[in-house]
Order: sequence, then structure tokens, then C-alpha cells
Amino acid sequence: MPPRITVLGTGYLGATHAVCLAELGFQVLGLDTNEAQVSALAAGRLPFHEPDLEELLRGGLRSGRLRFTTSYGEAASFGDVHFICVGTPQRADSDAADLTHLLACVEALAPLLTRPCLVVGKSTVPVGTSEIVSERLARLSPAGPAAELAWNPEFLREGHAVADTMRPDRIVVGVRSARAEAILREVYAGPAAAGVPFLVTGLPTAELVKVAANAFLATKVSFINAMAEVCEAVGADIVPLAQALSHDERIGGRFLVPGLGFGGGCLPKDIRAFGAAARELGVGSVSTLLGEVDAINLRRRARMVDLALELAGGSLEGRAVGVLGCSFKPNSDDIRDSPALDVAGTVHGLGARVTVYDPAALGKARQVHPELEYADSMLAAATDADVLLLLTEWREFTEADPDVLGKAVAQRNIADGRSVLDAGRWRAAGWRYRALGRPASADSISLAT
Ligand code: UGA
Repeated sequence: MPPRITVLGTGYLGATHAVCLAELGFQVLGLDTNEAQVSALAAGRLPFHEPDLEELLRGGLRSGRLRFTTSYGEAASFGDVHFICVGTPQRADSDAADLTHLLACVEALAPLLTRPCLVVGKSTVPVGTSEIVSERLARLSPAGPAAELAWNPEFLREGHAVADTMRPDRIVVGVRSARAEAILREVYAGPAAAGVPFLVTGLPTAELVKVAANAFLATKVSFINAMAEVCEAVGADIVPLAQALSHDERIGGRFLVPGLGFGGGCLPKDIRAFGAAARELGVGSVSTLLGEVDAINLRRRARMVDLALELAGGSLEGRAVGVLGCSFKPNSDDIRDSPALDVAGTVHGLGARVTVYDPAALGKARQVHPELEYADSMLAAATDADVLLLLTEWREFTEADPDVLGKAVAQRNIADGRSVLDAGRWRAAGWRYRALGRPASADSISLAT
């Protein structure tokens, strides 16, 4: 019999994991303490925007392989493998990760584990957390050592969650026994047979792989944005600079796109938590490095506000600013730590009348920033604007027609926070075009691709 699986925590990671494992043929029970979330999922509704996932959710429910519950008792008696997928946000009082949900989950589950099973941590955690979790499991579970812990980090990206789960770049499992390895090989037999590398490590290494990957990605983004700062100081152009670097295969072009920098529910809080953990471990170099990565990233937001001020002629008081994009990245409705919303809020604070349009995130943005105005189309956000700010690179914006938008705005001023528009085309259409890390006028020669 294939192992029966529970997924504890049905947020982004958990819902995706539960749906995809059911799609791979397993019997899956998803658990969350949030009743509204469980009801929505059980009714086939996803509480967030993610391509393809809702259809798979409905298919899983129809097949009878996927169910949801709020009962830990039901989960404990059902599951042979329990995946912990609860959130580990940043603590309110420090940079460190908040393990409250994770430990509450373990403390609710462990006393109910009366037979052999594998508990698998998937949440992103500071290295060393698995030690704390396994100590609680051993202390609280009636099954004793037969309720074993493993760690299996998740690398999915929002907007690509299904593909990243069904065909990840790699599967990493941190285990303490051959039995735990065998169980996880059975769970991931499908992707492994399709050629996905399957790496077996100890638990601390598995915990570290995830935070190291996110730290590297964040560092890459901040590296190119630090180069943008140099470009601004000397009048060079970051776009051809990044393009030239990307042709070196050792460097590569992914996560080397200059602009407003990274946000979302993962990279910012993960580098802060990693920095805090490294400091506690006495590895000051990592915490200094990641502190600078964070600072460079946040400076891009301030610099974007400077560009808005410059285009508005030195003051934003009473000026109309149209904001294109407020999700933290395109193809997502997630606004957690969104650089775009941060800039929109600051510009509003400087006295501007800010009107935001986003193809997916307006509902969520309205709840958090009721002081901003919201439009239901790009054209409506641009109408009568003194300055337009492109802050999230949705395709609708990257393909915008400068002549059409030019007729709507009060003044043809645009700041491109993601360096995605053709500067020459917009300038030729009569726009003052500014972008982070790019010269104020067209003095750069475009490179052949
Ligand atoms: C990120 C990682 O990419 C996933 O591997 C990881 O599993 C996930 O965090 C997580 O920890 O759960 P995600 O937050 O969905 O995934 O988004 P990314 O596509 O990585 O983008 C992160 C941010 O970096 C976005 O704000 C994006 O706009 C920004 N970015 C990305 C840049 O500013 N420049 C780039 O060149 C690339």
C-alpha cells in the first residue's frame, strides 16, 4: 500500500503540495486550523491566485483522493507521512523566524501519534529547528522513536507552483534512517523516475539548502542592483551592463534583472532570519553579507521615489500619480512585502494622489492600503496622471502603447521600476522616461543580442 499522506498547513506551500500529491495518485488529507480556508478548499476554491492549481484541486476532490479537515485526531489516525507546511513568518520584534505555528503544529500532532509514521518538515526554518522538533516529537508522541522526523525543503515559486512541485529542479531529503529515506523515495518516485535529482543529506544540511538557495537568489538580485547604483553615480546604463554579464555562462541572466528589487513572503524574511541565525551561530560574515543585500534592496525603493519626485518637478504635493502594478511580482496576487505597494504608499505620504491598477492584486491591496485610490484598468490609472510609475512587470504593462497612454495622461512622465520598457520608443513618443540605474537621456548604445 502506498503511504497515506497528511499535509499540515494549507497555505501556498501546503495547498500546492496536497493537491500535487493527490494528482500523483496518493490518498491525501490536508489540515488547517483555519476553518474558512478548509471549507474553501473542500469546496474547490483556492484562496490565492495560482495558475492551474484550482483545476487540479477540483480534480483531486472529484477523485476522492484529496480531502481537508481541521481535526488533528483525524490527521494522526489517517497519515503514514505527515508533511508540516505551516508558515514561518518574520517575528514582529526581530529579524528572526517566528516558529510559533510550527511548534504548535508539532505539539498538537505528536501526542496523537500512536503508530509508526514519518513527520516531514517542509516549512522554511533556521538551521537547528529540526533538533527542537525531534526533541518534542520524542517527548510527546506515544509512538516514541517510531514517529521519526525528516526534513524536505520546498523550492516552489509563486506563479509556477504546480510545475515546481511536479518537476522540481531537485528533491532534497534530510533523513536519519534508511527507513525514512525509503518512504520519501516512494513519495517522490514519480518525479525521480522522470529524472529529477534526488539528494539525501542529514537534517541540518536539508534545512540549510533552502535558506542558502533563497539567500543566493537575493544576493544575485542585490548584486545587479548595487551595480545599478554605480551606474547612477557615473551615468552608465545597467540594462546593457546586465545583458553583457549574462552572456557569461558562469554568471547567467536569471535573477540578474535590475530594478525595484525583491519582495514577497519568502526572500526578504528568509534572508533576515538566516542573518539572525548566522549571528547567533557566530558566523558574522553571513549576517553582514545578507544585511547589505537587504539594505541594497530597500534602497531601490527609496531611489524609485526619488525618480517620481524628479519627474514631478521636485514635489509630489497634490500631484496625480498613476501606479501600474502592486503585486510583489507579475502573475501573482500576493502583496506581502511588495516593493510596488511600498513605493505607492511612500509617494502617497509625500502628498500625491495615487491611483493604483494591478491585474490581480487590487482586492488584497485595498484591504491593506485603503488610503490609496484604485482603478480597474491601466488606462483609468493613467488618466490625468502627472507621473506614471511602472512597478510590477505584468505583461499588460510591458506591452503598453506609449501613444495610447500618452493621450490619457496629463503629462508624459514615466518611471520604469523594472527596466522593461523600450526607452527609445517611449522617448520618441514624447515621454520623459526614467529608470533605475539608467541615464536620464538616451546616451547608451544598444547591444546586439
Ligand atoms: C522564492 C524562490 O524563488 C523559490 O525558490 C522559493 O521556494 C520561494 O521563494 C520560497 O521560499 O517559498 P517567490 O517568492 O515565489 O520564490 O518569487 P521569485 O520568483 O523568486 O521572486 C522573488 C522576488 O525577486 C520578486 O519580488 C521578484 O520581482 C524579484 N526579482 C526576481 C528581481 O527583482 N529580479 C530578478 O532578476 C528576479
